[in-house]
Amino acid sequence: MTILTIVAFDGATIDLDVADGSTVMENAVRNSVPGIDAECGGACACATCHVYVDDEWAERVGPPEAMEEDMLDFAFDVRPTSRLSCQIKMSAELDGLIVHVPERQG
Ligand code: FES
Repeated sequence: MTILTIVAFDGATIDLDVADGSTVMENAVRNSVPGIDAECGGACACATCHVYVDDEWAERVGPPEAMEEDMLDFAFDVRPTSRLSCQIKMSAELDGLIVHVPERQG
């Protein structure tokens, strides 16, 4: 059992029991989490699945790869902990991960 917590922009906390190997974006969309549009369906080509990784988790999740970093240029209010949620794969190592939804996408 791997737990993913998504904090919506209004502060609502959504705890999800997720499958290892699934992405944060897939779980957000499947559970109708507000604020994650994911227009490209996970191809790292839209930047509308932008999230902020919680400070406590930023090191373990790690930085974006080059293609994701380029795409993040199109996201709104990018911060040091910004990631595209379709590029974060859940695993036992990320059990308990917390991500925050930005004010808006794009
Ligand atoms: Fe499009 Fe993540 S869903 S970049």
